[in-house]
Amino acid sequence: MAETIGFIAIKGGVGKTTCTANIGASLAYKFNKKVLLVDANFTAPNLGFYFDIFDTKKTIHDVLQNKVKIEDAIVEYNEKIHIIPGALCQGAIKKPLVLDAVLKKVKDAYDIILIDSSPNIENEILFTINASDVVYTVTTPDFPTLSTTLRLLKLTHQKKNYVNGLILNKVKYKKYELEKREIEKTAEAPVIGVIPNDWKVEESLSIPKPLPLYAPKSNAAVAFNSIAAMIIDEDYKDPRFLARLKNLFMRR
Ligand SMILES: Nc1ncnc2c1ncn2[C@@H]1O[C@H](COP(=O)(O)OP(=O)(O)OP(=O)(O)O)[C@@H](O)[C@H]1O
Ligand SMILES: [Mg+2]
Repeated sequence: MAETIGFIAIKGGVGKTTCTANIGASLAYKFNKKVLLVDANFTAPNLGFYFDIFDTKKTIHDVLQNKVKIEDAIVEYNEKIHIIPGALCQGAIKKPLVLDAVLKKVKDAYDIILIDSSPNIENEILFTINASDVVYTVTTPDFPTLSTTLRLLKLTHQKKNYVNGLILNKVKYKKYELEKREIEKTAEAPVIGVIPNDWKVEESLSIPKPLPLYAPKSNAAVAFNSIAAMIIDEDYKDPRFLARLKNLFMRR
């Protein structure tokens, strides 16, 4: 049965969708896992864009409103990556079915299910938290974002849903940025992955193609691979470093 992993944050634009799409792609391309990616950002869904899916008739909105079966809303990007997109123009869902219960019907067909959350703290984010076995909060190394991360951690603690770790995204390695260990200490949660700010991320989206496929040697793709490896408990070493090391010895 697939493990379900949710990517959450209550700040927009920190990289929840980017992480869902690219860690999912890495799990599929690099580690040969069969993944289901679910767009649970009901107000502003855009996970499908990362896979060139712009117009689908059956969406997660229809599934949660009991209009279509979950199996019928799954778009097969390829054999390893399946996606349930959201409806672009629909917005909030009134009295929805519970995402957790709906996903259970297809869990046996996948190795891993990743959920892209909404930043909406009122209720949408709880869909992802409640449906996930493991929850990661995406944050960036600045005070305003860290403050929203702390607020989210407090909320999840109150609901007895614990966040398993933080993903630090868009890191520029500048002096003015908060450091990883400062963030871990303040949040009292481990940073399980660091993703650099990499223009290849936005370039891949303009194609659109998932980064691990479009630019597998880019800094961010290597970071997504590392996080994917950590999620499935596999070893992963930066192949560029090993290649450079080999070249060094071969030249001598
Ligand atoms: N590591 C990165 N390097 C460069 N650009 C990035 C990186 N991560 C994300 N981005 C860019 O930042 C923008 C916002 O990312 P994304 O849509 O994933 O955020 P989000 O948290 O899902 O936002 P929302 O709350 O609106 O759903 C996108 O244009 C994306 O390409
Ligand atoms: Mg998003």
